[in-house]
Amino acid sequence: MPRDSSIQSFKQFRDLVYGFRLPKIIFSALELDLFNMMGKRKWTISQLAKQLNASHRGMEILCRNLASTGLLRKLQTGYQASKFATTYLQQNSADYRGDYLALMQRQWEEWSRLTEVVTTGIPVDSQEPETPEYRRSFTWAMHHRSQEPAQQVAKQVSLKSARSFLDLGGGPGTYALAFVQNNPHLQATVMDRPAALEVARTLAKQASAESRLSFQAGNFVSDKIPGTYDIVWYSNVLHIYSPSENLKVFRKIKRALKPGGRLIIQDTFLLDPHGLRPLETNLFAVTMLLYTDTGNTYSLQDVRTWLQKAGLSRTRIIRLKKGTGDWEGQLLEARRPI
Ligand SMILES: C[S@@+](CC[C@H](N)C(=O)[O-])C[C@H]1O[C@@H](n2cnc3c(N)ncnc32)[C@H](O)[C@@H]1O
Repeated sequence: MPRDSSIQSFKQFRDLVYGFRLPKIIFSALELDLFNMMGKRKWTISQLAKQLNASHRGMEILCRNLASTGLLRKLQTGYQASKFATTYLQQNSADYRGDYLALMQRQWEEWSRLTEVVTTGIPVDSQEPETPEYRRSFTWAMHHRSQEPAQQVAKQVSLKSARSFLDLGGGPGTYALAFVQNNPHLQATVMDRPAALEVARTLAKQASAESRLSFQAGNFVSDKIPGTYDIVWYSNVLHIYSPSENLKVFRKIKRALKPGGRLIIQDTFLLDPHGLRPLETNLFAVTMLLYTDTGNTYSLQDVRTWLQKAGLSRTRIIRLKKGTGDWEGQLLEARRPI
């Protein structure tokens, strides 16, 4: 069924609802630690079943399905992890996406509580205060998610005359890093919570970019945003907050911009007049319902209205090449008037 088309037949309905099966098969394999255990060698089903303390029949059916997705390779006598699996799903690989996989596994469990959250309106983790460990793991997951889009975006957004750049809610600073790597005269600051900045510092060090990046710990909703900048980059944060909170943050951003400075927003926006498309944007609103007190996804028009109210002007869309960027290939920009 095309992603954005509505259900017309019971078959389409059934196919859509049974879409949970492959994800669950993959989550079971992750839960069993199958990919890590397999390494690069070849395994028979009996060896796998013995090693993982699993039933022969269960392992055979699981592996057959994993092979149909391409995560395993089926051999004459058994199975081997595919190139994709050894690259992204095994912890000894430099490209291992472990924290992102852990985030997805947690989400599988927590999405199962959706009815409860729809009923109460209270996020799943409201009883558990956030720990630094959770924030660090989440921040690594954000890096795993943004590595490729950040490089693609930084190459397409011209920051020619800019010298100072604030990555507000920058998390791992993946975007700040990509922008300084693509703009030799740029100095960037990443503002976020202390545990997130630990990850950002590690990544800056790994990239030998410490002299180009600085770090500002703080809460930009309750506190001031220190400094003034040519560019404020606000990526994947807007959806965490309500319209009134976003308006409040935009007013602070205006004060943190130099005259003529640019706020560039990356997020997922509803694009049709009824607020039904893209589907992914609405699905993401559910994630915000599950994990935040006030988050949601918004139409481009909503955001333009808040920008205008905050005194930011010359709003425009920056279009990205198809298939690049985090979402639908467009960013929203506004300027502080001169
Ligand atoms: C979804 S992540 C996005 C990270 C990064 N900007 C990106 O696009 O990959 C949102 C980030 O905003 C940070 N954040 C949200 N609200 C914040 C606040 N009030 N003060 C500081 N950081 C905040 C979170 O800690 C998190 O790192």
